[in-house]
Amino acid sequence: MKQKLLASSLAALLAMAAGGAIAAPDWSKAPGKKIVVFYPGVSPIEWITKGTEHGGAKGLRKGESCASCHDEEAADMGKKMVTGQKLEPNVIKGKAAAIPVTVQAANDGTNLYLRFTWKQPAGGADKMDKDNQVKLAIMLDDNKVERANLSGCWETCHQDVRTMPEGNKDKTKYVAGGSASGKFYDLMQWTSKANKGRDGHVADKRIMEGGKALVEAKGEKKGDEWVVTFTRKLAGGGDGDIAMASGKTYNFGFAIHDDHTEGRYHHVSLGYTLGVDAKADVTAAKQ
Ligand code: HEC
Repeated sequence: MKQKLLASSLAALLAMAAGGAIAAPDWSKAPGKKIVVFYPGVSPIEWITKGTEHGGAKGLRKGESCASCHDEEAADMGKKMVTGQKLEPNVIKGKAAAIPVTVQAANDGTNLYLRFTWKQPAGGADKMDKDNQVKLAIMLDDNKVERANLSGCWETCHQDVRTMPEGNKDKTKYVAGGSASGKFYDLMQWTSKANKGRDGHVADKRIMEGGKALVEAKGEKKGDEWVVTFTRKLAGGGDGDIAMASGKTYNFGFAIHDDHTEGRYHHVSLGYTLGVDAKADVTAAKQ
């Protein structure tokens, strides 16, 4: 018993020496939520809200979330766009329709920890982003962006942004009426080549720097499975960082740029909630 204790405190000491003050959570204690990211094709918020084409526009107006209608059929939706049956003029051969991801979260009173695990699907299309095989981004909203509680990231997805068929090549994603002091999504992105994170936000445009919340983002591929983790200061503190607190719930969506893609050619999640010590779709419980 004594020996065991000694060994575990030694291990803890070693971990501290190796990784500074960050102690990774025990992921076996954090329940995994399966979230399917799917290929969205060209389905900007303008298409979503225009009642004539999208069957869900009316329900959304009444306060129903994307996930309440689509959560269980996300993979089937992806199939329609990826094959060009719907909303995709530029079909990419061999692209996955959807990717099931396990999402876990935890906190230690100072940091929020997020972990994403998924199986690498088949690919092999032309490389748009030659450097990065994979990128993963998450956007968080502190209940400020209208409708983000229903639509996740879709409030930033517009028909006039770059890589859209009628887009402006200089325009990145944005929030209508967005500002970095009020209405914005906090954005963190991990890229595979540098194996590092960037901490930005999306307000009237997308900015990939200025945040001070992100402590570390890293990923690795074990066999055919990717595991990507983010460590983020709950308090935030930089430009476009939301301040997170125990007992509160936030809206989020995330996206994976698989197989060297960029721009709109990603797989995206619908909108979900993240609770810090609070019941939500994904709960970051204190360890
Ligand atoms: C009230 C239910 C409802 C809500 C809320 C809703 N949708 Fe839909 N959505 C539908 C229906 C119905 C269709 C048409 C399905 C069909 O043609 O079989 C559809 C179609 C789509 C499609 C085209 C692919 C397909 O399966 O036809 C996309 C993409 C989509 N919705 C995304 C969204 C997003 C994103 C949101 C939230 C911003 C959302 N929907 C909210 C009901 C809903």
